[in-house]
Order: sequence, then structure tokens, then C-alpha cells
Amino acid sequence: MFPIHRPRRLRTNEVIRRMVRETSLSPDDFIYPLFVTFGKGVRKEVSAMPGCFQESADEAVRNAKEAHSLGIPSVLLFGIPEQKDERGTAAYDEGGVVQNAVKAIKDAIPDLYVITDVCMCEYTSHGHCGIIEAGDVANDATLELLAREALSHAKAGADMVAPSDMMDGRVEAIRLALDDEGFPNVPIMSYAAKYASAFYGPFREAAESTPQFGDRSSYQMDSANRREALKEVALDVEEGADIVMVKPALSYLDIISDVRENFDVPVAAYNVSGEYSLVKAAARLGWIDEERMMMEVLTSIKRAGADLILTYFAKDAAKVLNR
Ligand code: PBG
Repeated sequence: MFPIHRPRRLRTNEVIRRMVRETSLSPDDFIYPLFVTFGKGVRKEVSAMPGCFQESADEAVRNAKEAHSLGIPSVLLFGIPEQKDERGTAAYDEGGVVQNAVKAIKDAIPDLYVITDVCMCEYTSHGHCGIIEAGDVANDATLELLAREALSHAKAGADMVAPSDMMDGRVEAIRLALDDEGFPNVPIMSYAAKYASAFYGPFREAAESTPQFGDRSSYQMDSANRREALKEVALDVEEGADIVMVKPALSYLDIISDVRENFDVPVAAYNVSGEYSLVKAAARLGWIDEERMMMEVLTSIKRAGADLILTYFAKDAAKVLNR
């Protein structure tokens, strides 16, 4: 009781604050997403995501090298193919954009850990995360395509695959396909609790993956649900997920915390495009201090329980941490 207890004693100067700080960030925590496309010498900035680009494989290699030199251990690849069709065939094409970029990056920087996003939405003409039957995304028919896509990424040399589609049973389908074809050591990071979110808006411009009809509410989670996230995570762990992800991060810190408390697998959180754009936009308007807000956002995600943070801020934050 006051005046015996004065919590301010441990806040008197930066040295003691550093000594009692409970959460610290490191570049090791970050996974840096890249948007890879076809062609050569392509580097097109995403308008709602300043500092993020659609890049051809050669440019992605340059970007990945920079991330690696800043101490970031890993990149996550999204693909923007030349052609899209109903069944997203470009997703599992051995000469596809992601498959080529994986090879180029692993050749140039063998010890950079390359993770690939496994989903159909960037490759289907309708923009949904699976194939369409009777006006809805067909769960079971999509599983085989996701497994083929994951396998083609592993064959190209991906270190890990990350399914983001939210079909039921996809972790098991991918695990079995990888094991059958000689990739038992390629881990799966599942987007286990992925919510239908307005925070993905800018990403859909970046990945050109906006659904052409309807929305993703029949497969991604309802943002009002908390207990359901534990069920989704439990199923993915049972099916063989090595790392589970919560997405988005910032409006879902309670979910990150719940998952951390209830499971012993590593937890990743995706600081998504809208969370990035909000900070960038307010900074451009001169309304906030971008660097402080970025570090506070990332620290809060780690404090909530995330071991790994997927973030477009990875390079900017690593520069701050390396100072
Ligand atoms: C694909 C996918 C999305 C994101 C990652 N993978 C978009 C979506 O589900 O519509 C969002 C990433 C971001 O907003 O940064 N399924």
C-alpha cells in the first residue's frame, strides 16, 4: 500500500526500465512477406502499402538479401501469376511465380528461410480461396489442389509451407502429401485462427486477390468469436501443424494470448496489411510518430504471446533494433 509501494521507483531512468522490461523484440522474431510476380526488373509499389512492392524474382532476391543482411531470418512468399483461371492452375505449376522465386532466393541466399503461402485466391479468376461448386467454395475438392500446391513449393525448395485458405482438413491433406512424396521434414505453419477481416483490404490490391462475388465469411472466422479460435487451433495441431498462426494480430491480441496459454506449439501472428497501412497513412498525415507506433504495435503482439510476427515492418523495425 502507498507510500510503501511506489511502482514509479522502477521507472526513474532508462537503465532501470531496460532492466525490468518484460518483452523485447529481435529481428529473429520477424517473417517478412514478399509479393512475387512474373517478368524481370519489375518493382511496382502497392499504393495502399508504401514500402511494399510487387516484384519479379530478380527484384525479390535483392529485397530478400537486404532483409537477410538486417538479421531477418525468414521471408514469406505470395504469388501474383500471369494467368488466372477457375481452378487456379498457376498455383501448382512447377514453373509458377512462387516456385521460380523460391529457387532464385534459395540459390542466392541459401540460409534465408523461405516460407510459401499456400492458397488459391491469388490464382483463381473468381478470387476465392478454393474452387467453386454450386456457388460456394467446395471444401473437399479444394484439398487436393492445396496439397498439390504445397508439394510444388516443397519441390522448388521451400523450407516451410503456410496454408492460409481456411478449408477444413487442409493441414492433414498437405501433411500426407508432403510425407508421401519425400518431404517429411518440411514443416507446416497453419493460419489456424484466421478471421474474415476488413484489415486485409490493402493486401488484396497487392495480391490482386479480391473475391469477384460474395466474401470469405463462409470459410474465414467470424471476428466476434473467441472460443472458436481454440477449436480451430486444436484441430490444426491434431492434423499436424508445427506452428499455428493468429490473423490479423492487432484487433485479436486476446486470441493470441488464449492460444499461447492453451497450446505448446510456437505461435505466429500476422500484423496484416491494414494494420500496416493505418500506421503509414497517419504518419504521412503527420498525425503520429511512425517509428514509435511501429515498435509499440510489434511489442504488443509479442507481449500478447506471439513467438513470431509476420510483418511488412520487418526491415524498418530491424533497422531500429540494430541501431
Ligand atoms: C490469402 C491471404 C490473405 C492474406 C494473407 N493470405 C488475404 C485474404 O484472406 O483475403 C492477408 C494478408 C494481409 O492483409 O496482410 N488467403
